[in-house]
Amino acid sequence: MSENTMQAVRYHQFGGSEVLHLEEVPRPQPQAGEVLIRVCAAGVLPVDWKIRKGLFPMPVRFPNIPGTALAGVVEEIGPDVTRFRKGQAVFGRSTKGTYSEYTTAPEEALALKPDSISFDEAATISGGATTAWRTIVIDGGVKAGDRVLVHGAAGGVGLFATQFAIWKGARVIGTAGPANIDFVRSLGAETAIDYTSTPFEEVVDDVDLVLDTIGGETLDRSWSVIKRGGSLISIAGQPPLEKGQELGIKVMRSSLATSQDLTDIARLLDDGVVRTYIEKTYSLSEARQAHEWSEKGHGRGRIVLRV
Ligand SMILES: NC(=O)c1ccc[n+]([C@@H]2O[C@H](COP(=O)([O-])OP(=O)(O)OC[C@H]3O[C@@H](n4cnc5c(N)ncnc54)[C@H](OP(=O)(O)O)[C@@H]3O)[C@@H](O)[C@H]2O)c1
Repeated sequence: MSENTMQAVRYHQFGGSEVLHLEEVPRPQPQAGEVLIRVCAAGVLPVDWKIRKGLFPMPVRFPNIPGTALAGVVEEIGPDVTRFRKGQAVFGRSTKGTYSEYTTAPEEALALKPDSISFDEAATISGGATTAWRTIVIDGGVKAGDRVLVHGAAGGVGLFATQFAIWKGARVIGTAGPANIDFVRSLGAETAIDYTSTPFEEVVDDVDLVLDTIGGETLDRSWSVIKRGGSLISIAGQPPLEKGQELGIKVMRSSLATSQDLTDIARLLDDGVVRTYIEKTYSLSEARQAHEWSEKGHGRGRIVLRV
C-alpha cells in the first residue's frame, strides 16, 4: 500500500451487512481547521447500521465509510489548526467515516485522550458518553435529589447516563434485560428493573426525568411515571411536544456535544468517577460481524473496531 492510500470499510449501496467491504482507498487530506488522525479504534454505534440500511434521515454519498466515533493519533495538522500537534493521542467525532486507517476531523470535534484511558475505551465516548452527557447533565440539568429513570441502562448511552446522573447526586432507576440487571446495579443504580418480567410503570412513579434510549411502546408507557414539571428526553423516538404541554412535562431532544464536553467526560473517566465497558472488539475486516452484533439491540456497553 502506498503512502497515499489506506484500508477502509466502505459500502456502495444501502443494504444488509454484506454490503460492507474492506477496500484500499485514497487517504484523506486535512482541510483548514482539520487534523488527519491515524485511527486506533472506532466505536460501532447503532446509527452506523441504520445509515447503512438507508433507515436514517440523512443524505448519504456513496461509497460511504461508516462510523463517527474514534480514538487515534494526530498524523498531520491542516492549515489554521491551533489546538493539536502531530503525535498527540485524541478522541472524538468525525463525519468522514472512522472504520478506516485514517480520517479527518475538525479540531472542535476532538479532545486530548488521557493516558489512563485506552484507545478502545476512548472510542466508546463519542455517541455514547457524549449523548448521555448532553441529555443528563447539559439539557436535562439533573441535580442532587432528582429521581431519574434510564431505559436501556446497560447500553452504550445508558451506562454513562446512569453514572452521570448518580455523579450529579440523583437516584437512578435503570431498565435492562435479565443478563444486565447486576451490571446496572454495579453502575450505582438504586433500582434495576428487568423489562422482560416487570412493566416499569407498575413499580415506578413520580420521577423527575426519563431518558428513553429504546423508543416505541417503552417511550409511550413512560409519560405516566413522570411527575408534573418533570422531563422526558428520547434519543430513539419523537415524543409529541403537545402531549408534553398537556401533561406539564418538558419534552427534549439530544443536542450535539462540544469539545469541552469531551474534555469534561475524559476527566471523569481519568479520575475514575465513571467507567466505560467494551462488550466486544473486532478488526476492520470483521465490520460485518460487528454490525450484526449491534443490530441485535441487546448487550452491554459498546462494540469497538480495533484498527
Ligand atoms: N439522537 C441521538 O443523539 C442518539 C445518540 C446515540 C444513540 N441514539 C439511539 O439510541 C438508541 C440506543 O443507543 P445505544 O448506543 O445506547 O444502544 P446499545 O448500546 O445497542 O444499547 C441498547 C440497550 O438497550 C437495551 N434494551 C433493549 N430492549 C430494551 C427494552 N425494551 N427496555 C430496556 N432496555 C432495552 C439492551 O439491553 P439488554 O441486552 O439488557 O436487552 C441494550 O443494553 C439507538 O437507537 C441509537 O441509535 C441516538
